[in-house]
Amino acid sequence: MALLEIRNMTHWFGGLRAVYNFNTRIEPGEIRGLIGPNGAGKTTVFNLVTGFYTPTEGQIFFLGREITGLRPHQIGRLGISRTFQNLRLWTHLTALDNVKIAYYSQIRYGLIGAFFNTRARREEEERIDHEARQLMRMLDIDQYAHRVVSGLPYGIQRKVEIARALATKPKLLLLDEPTAGMGPAEMEETMAFIRRIRDQFNLTIWLIEHKMKFVMGLCGWIQVLNFGEIIAEGPPEEIQRNPEVIRAYLGEMVEL
Ligand SMILES: Nc1ncnc2c1ncn2[C@@H]1O[C@H](COP(=O)(O)OP(=O)(O)O)[C@@H](O)[C@H]1O
Ligand SMILES: [Mg+2]
Repeated sequence: MALLEIRNMTHWFGGLRAVYNFNTRIEPGEIRGLIGPNGAGKTTVFNLVTGFYTPTEGQIFFLGREITGLRPHQIGRLGISRTFQNLRLWTHLTALDNVKIAYYSQIRYGLIGAFFNTRARREEEERIDHEARQLMRMLDIDQYAHRVVSGLPYGIQRKVEIARALATKPKLLLLDEPTAGMGPAEMEETMAFIRRIRDQFNLTIWLIEHKMKFVMGLCGWIQVLNFGEIIAEGPPEEIQRNPEVIRAYLGEMVEL
C-alpha cells in the first residue's frame, strides 16, 4: 500500500485552474521531489494534501484511508506534517519555545485544567519541555534552544521549523523549498540533514525545490509541474535531460 496516493486531483481558485488532474503514489521511506517554475501549483498541491484547501475534484488517500476534505488538524493527527515556503515562526520567542508551542498545539486541556494548575497539567508541561529539548538535541540545534529565533542564522531557523513539524510525530513530512535563501555550503549540509532525519525518524519526505543539484541528489523520483499539470516524471537523470522540462524551466533553473 502506498503511504500517500492522490487520484485525479484538480483545484480551481475562482477562474484559475491551479492544479489539473494530479496523480501520485508515494511509498514509505521515499524522498520525493516536486519541481516546476514559479506559479506552477506546487505549494497548492501541498495545501491540498494538508487540508488547507479541499480539492475541486479528485481524492487523496493516506495509508489507504481517504483524507479528502478533512481539516488540517485532523490530517496532522493522522501523520502528515509540513514546513512553509516562508518560515512561520514566532520570531520574538526562543527556539525552544517555538518547538514547545508545536507540542502544545496538539493537546487540549479540559476547562478545569486551563484555569487551575493541576498536577496532570504540570506533568504534561514537564513532559513537553523534556521532549522538545530531546528533539532539538536529535536535530543538533539544542545549543540554540535559548536564543531568540530572529537572531539565528537562516539555516538554523529552517531546522527549528522542521523540529516544529516533527513534534507531531509525522510519517510524511512535506518540505516547501527547504533551502530557500541558502548558499551552496548550507545547501549541502541540508541535503545530509534531510537524509539523516528521514532515517532517524522513519519519515517519508516530499519536497518542493528549485535547486537542481539538491533535488537531483536527494530524490529517487521527481514530478514536474507546469501550469498545474504534470509534464514529466521519473528518476533524476531522466528529468534533467527532458527537453520539455528544460523548456518549461528556461531562465528559472537554478544550477547550484
Ligand atoms: N489562495 C489563492 N487564491 C487564488 N490564487 C492562488 C491562491 N494560491 C495560489 N494561487 C495561484 O495559483 C497558482 C499556483 O500557485 P502556487 O501553488 O503557489 O505555485 P508554486 O508554489 O508552484 O510557485 C498561481 O497562479 C497562484 O497565483
Ligand atoms: Mg510555492
